[in-house]
Amino acid sequence: MAIVQGWLPPTRENWEFLCSVWQYFPVITLGQWVVDWYPQGKTSTESRWNIDGKIGWATMESAGFVVLLYIMYALPRELGIGELPWGNWTLAGCFVIHYMYRAIVSPLFLNPSMSPMSPLVWIMAFAFQVMNGISIGGYLAGYGPTTQDHWAARSEYLFIGLVIWCWGLLGNMFHDDDLREIRRAANRKQQREAKASGKRVESVDKVYMIPKNGLFSYVLHAHYLCEWVEWAGWWMIGGWGFHPGRAFLINEMTTMLPRALQGKRWYEQKFGKEKLEGRKAIIPGLL
Ligand SMILES: NC(=O)c1ccc[n+]([C@@H]2O[C@H](COP(=O)([O-])OP(=O)(O)OC[C@H]3O[C@@H](n4cnc5c(N)ncnc54)[C@H](OP(=O)(O)O)[C@@H]3O)[C@@H](O)[C@H]2O)c1
Repeated sequence: MAIVQGWLPPTRENWEFLCSVWQYFPVITLGQWVVDWYPQGKTSTESRWNIDGKIGWATMESAGFVVLLYIMYALPRELGIGELPWGNWTLAGCFVIHYMYRAIVSPLFLNPSMSPMSPLVWIMAFAFQVMNGISIGGYLAGYGPTTQDHWAARSEYLFIGLVIWCWGLLGNMFHDDDLREIRRAANRKQQREAKASGKRVESVDKVYMIPKNGLFSYVLHAHYLCEWVEWAGWWMIGGWGFHPGRAFLINEMTTMLPRALQGKRWYEQKFGKEKLEGRKAIIPGLL
């Protein structure tokens, strides 16, 4: 059953067209190098149109894995494929695990607070997720490899890629949690003071400090760096011919790099350059 005729799930022609357009996403990100306006997170602005941060992240980031899972369900039926090989499900599983964490667990259960975002950011991120979900979903659900032999022939790369993916995900989670701890600690401090002096407990929204643990001692966006490692490992699982994996990694890197450099400028303004003790934005010793 098609949800959107020809697109969900995609016909081969539409999927190939979408994949070729999707490669040009980095061109859009050139705008991030010249415009500093990015109304989300640290650089969020006040507006009556803003979307709550937690709801925004949960809804925009869920789109990719929902689209992927739907295509994995519907496309093989349309193409008459009985069963997809385990390698396809491994890649799909990694993607779903990451986004269950990013879209559900992290914003709705773990993060103490998240800044509101502009609907424009939400629309861009939602569109990114849908395009990415169709690109990857089409490949994994029938237009890419469909035999067990394909995966058996590259089991070493699959294993190494899986290990890199796993370390990247754990690193991303570890550094995300280091940021959470800043607000949890601020909240604990406020609770103690409230107990001692009867003072009202304030919100920890927009409480920022310089993160220092793990790779944060070298770069201010260690969680981004780990996410790059994660998706590089994931692309390796799929192999050189897994072009939607390559497009995803490149598209993420091209949007996250200018965001990290902007984040570094923000830290410099807020805390002063000397407090950063030579930390780079995202690549240790380099950028
Ligand atoms: N941004 C992107 O383009 C992008 C793309 C793909 C994947 N991701 C992934 O999505 C995750 C979140 O990305 P993001 O851009 O929202 O990261 P972020 O700006 O570093 O924010 C992550 C969370 O930590 C809080 N936070 C950030 N810096 C803090 C500090 N110095 N002190 C205390 N709390 C701080 C934020 O609160 P506030 O919301 O209140 O600032 C937010 O809740 C990351 O793991 C990243 O790898 C991001």
